[in-house]
Amino acid sequence: MRKILVTNALPYANGPIHMGHLLGYIQADIWVRAMRAMGHDVTYVCADDAHGTAIMLRAEANRISPEEQIAGVQKEHERDFAGFGISFDHYDSTHSDTNQARASEIYLKNRDAGNIAVRPVSQLFDPEKKMFLSDRFIKGTCPKCEAEDQYGDSCEVCGTTYNATELVNPRSTLSGATPIEKSSDHYFFKLPNYEKYLQQWTRDEGRLPVSIANKLDEWFEAGLADWDISRDAPYFGFEIPDAKDKYFYVWVDAPIGYMASFENYIKTKRPDLNFNDYWQKDSQNEVYHFIGKDIVYFHALFWPAMLDGAGYRTPTGLFVNGFLTVNGQKMSKSRGTFIKAETYLAHLNPEYLRYYFASKLSDKVEDSDLNLDDFIQKVNSDLVGKVVNIASRCAKFINKNFNDTLSADCAEPELVQSFVDAGEKIAKSYEAREFSTAIRQIMALADKANQYIDEKKPWAFAKVEGNEQQVHDICSVGINLFRQLAIYLAPVLPSLAKEVQSFLKLETFDFASRTKILTQYEIATFKPLMQRVDKKAVDAMVDGSKDSLASPTPTPQKAAKKVKPTPPPATADETIHIDDLTKVDLRVAKVLAVNTVEGSDKLLQFTVDLGEDQPRNIFSGIRSHYAPEDLQDKLVIVVANLAPRKMRFGISNGMILSAGGEKGVFILSPDSGAQPGDKVS
Ligand code: 2FM
Ligand code: ZN
Repeated sequence: MRKILVTNALPYANGPIHMGHLLGYIQADIWVRAMRAMGHDVTYVCADDAHGTAIMLRAEANRISPEEQIAGVQKEHERDFAGFGISFDHYDSTHSDTNQARASEIYLKNRDAGNIAVRPVSQLFDPEKKMFLSDRFIKGTCPKCEAEDQYGDSCEVCGTTYNATELVNPRSTLSGATPIEKSSDHYFFKLPNYEKYLQQWTRDEGRLPVSIANKLDEWFEAGLADWDISRDAPYFGFEIPDAKDKYFYVWVDAPIGYMASFENYIKTKRPDLNFNDYWQKDSQNEVYHFIGKDIVYFHALFWPAMLDGAGYRTPTGLFVNGFLTVNGQKMSKSRGTFIKAETYLAHLNPEYLRYYFASKLSDKVEDSDLNLDDFIQKVNSDLVGKVVNIASRCAKFINKNFNDTLSADCAEPELVQSFVDAGEKIAKSYEAREFSTAIRQIMALADKANQYIDEKKPWAFAKVEGNEQQVHDICSVGINLFRQLAIYLAPVLPSLAKEVQSFLKLETFDFASRTKILTQYEIATFKPLMQRVDKKAVDAMVDGSKDSLASPTPTPQKAAKKVKPTPPPATADETIHIDDLTKVDLRVAKVLAVNTVEGSDKLLQFTVDLGEDQPRNIFSGIRSHYAPEDLQDKLVIVVANLAPRKMRFGISNGMILSAGGEKGVFILSPDSGAQPGDKVS
């Protein structure tokens, strides 16, 4: 029997669980349940990620202590996970004594191994709040295009990245004060010590999806840098044991929380388990982390290095999922597609979502879309129309005419055996996290079972006296086939499986139990197992998720998480869908006037005709490349549906497209004949 420890990424304790989170939790839970059903000893733990500035400030805003803040959120998280049937053996918090002890130990071992350096770092400091500011708490004017109100790391208007100290007129978003530059000692993990080790580690068989390992190569090529692991007080976290008023950066003790949660599980519930059996260097047990693609670099670089530096084993593998879109777009509060777990549960059966996600997931690092129409269609057609239908078609005869008892002999042993045999492949698909394949395999069986019943027509036999045996045999076969399907779907649909288990009075429902065919066997009275998805309930859920005050711009799935250094995105697939392209409204425009802008040596002010009632005003940062007079009357291409941007010199209402390279900047222009307002496609 394999002994396996599984974890999910730890959710931050400052916000609710939503659909984007659930993709990864449901994926892991299905895998855990499938592996358990195959007879493996799987321990599944998680915790709230409780530390960091964001949580500290959230507590402050809520006028409660950080401890109260994280306790309240943890309760909600645990409630939501239970609501979706996530079968954690233990759920903890990174703010635990066990985690503090483990984090200190891992740090000190790394220090003694020569992996820690200390040196001063100069950063912006809020003199009113008396704290250093990370980039997301600083705003100012972009040093490149002069757009106002830009964050401390990059400009959302022109895309330039910079240091917060380069912002023009910087201010603290916490107090409004002008930050000052100040130096303090920071502690670093010397990641370059692990360059060779990690290059090998990330290429070890099964460790990472190959697409991710390829992406990480870009990091190795650029050279690894020391990782800043300390934050100055005030900070909600653990003090570094040998450094007063310095705290571990949240990403140090977060993954250590995987170990600590497991350790607390042993302490509180499973004294028979042994921590070292799983974490010592030569452990033969398996450890897997399910994570999103945005946190690969923490798990594939820092985490194995820290573990190795402290003499522990590293994870057997990282299972990486992509992001979730809803109806083809980023989740959005204004569209009502930023759906919280709690809101979903108020309207819909969680098993619908588990099934839908399963039907989409594979071992690839691909984004998944929750298309609500497709969701309704798929659940109704597969689960209600195909699977549950088999039982309801057959059970009523067994219950009514045959004293709840299946026939003494199996009338179709080969057919039933073919369903049993198919379990081998289905189990393999689950183990390989090819859930969409598993679902296809199971649905092919469901089609076969329905076809059998359609052909045999027990209801027709039932109308003619003397045909009782046929009806009994056909329906008994149908129930046996249904049982196979329910066992195969159990990792995805645990509640349904439970109901089927009691309907069929079965003690176990694991994969191996399926081989014994049920004959001369008493079942319980059939009760409807699943309702159709009601479109009205889906609409009500979307309505209930709508925030009429929200900005219409898409809300990032994980707004709270903005970390530096930002590596190249760890995604294999950077293509976009055709629908993404059609969102951009490109139009031909004619330049009516161009002027320089007083106070800016970068901008030109355009007045352009887009074939609309009024000409538009657009600022473009191309003054050093064009003389205004060269642009007069020129046809240009404009992004017409860009949200208006407030700049120091006025409002810019669109964007003029240009190509840029080493040789300069070149405005894009259609051939003559194009008219203002023409659509560009
Ligand atoms: O990105 C996040 O949401 C983090 N809270 C995940 C932490 S995972 C682990 F390292 F703790
Ligand atoms: Zn800019």
